[in-house]
Amino acid sequence: MQVAIDGPASAGKSTVAKIVAGKLSFVYIDTGAMYRACTLIARNHGLAYSDEAGILKAIDQDGIVLEPGENGQKVLVAGEDVSLEIRTPEITANVSEVSALPGVRAKMVELQRELAGSTDVIMDGRDIGTTVLPNADVKIFLVASARSRAERRMLDWQQKGIEAKQTVEEIEADIAKRDYLDSHREVSPLQKADDAIEIDSTNLTIDQVVDAILAEIAKKRNNLN
Ligand code: CDP
Ligand code: CDP
Repeated sequence: MQVAIDGPASAGKSTVAKIVAGKLSFVYIDTGAMYRACTLIARNHGLAYSDEAGILKAIDQDGIVLEPGENGQKVLVAGEDVSLEIRTPEITANVSEVSALPGVRAKMVELQRELAGSTDVIMDGRDIGTTVLPNADVKIFLVASARSRAERRMLDWQQKGIEAKQTVEEIEADIAKRDYLDSHREVSPLQKADDAIEIDSTNLTIDQVVDAILAEIAKKRNNLN
């Protein structure tokens, strides 16, 4: 079974996808982490974020590997665990530029399809239901207001003891900017697939979103049997 979860930044995709994967023993694949790894590679090689040929060569040199980790998924670049480094504000601020490069997308989509090939998966991103797994059994489009997404991001940092260098307003502005870039790029923009089920989590708890997704998967399984 293939489950696709798409939606804008910080809508809760990875949080709920990890829980659903754990409950059903599916493999969880965080495709955003792959574009973040590409951005880190560009930075480490001193390349401009627009230098498609240079970045593609550097990706081939370093290699991006996804492995199951304690917290869902581990990302290795050149053999090193970079799971935390890919979440810094610097990488977050530049990932939309790198992820808009068509050659980078083609390479990552190939890898994502390979990873999804032979196992039950739940994959989250922006273009999973539209491009990566167009025949996914269940497609979810998870949204929430930009304000509540910014507030959740702030709360998340507070709970993890990470010092917030931005106000909620600044986080909201950054989220809105990234959503705009991700929705307006030429190749595979963030878009709801025609057959995706939209869930607005603005006023829902994590458990309520998880239950809604589990119900959609159960419905699909019943139809298949
Ligand atoms: O977790 P957060 O919402 O901050 O973002 P993410 O899922 O880690 O994705 C980071 C960035 O990667 C997005 O803003 C997109 O630019 C890009 N991305 C993409 O283009 N396609 C995907 N399938 C997943 C992520
Ligand atoms: O993967 P994505 O960028 O879509 O979001 P995330 O990294 O899962 O972050 C979402 C944040 O919102 C986490 O701190 C969750 O605890 C929180 N949250 C949620 O995911 N869903 C809710 N219904 C309420 C809060």
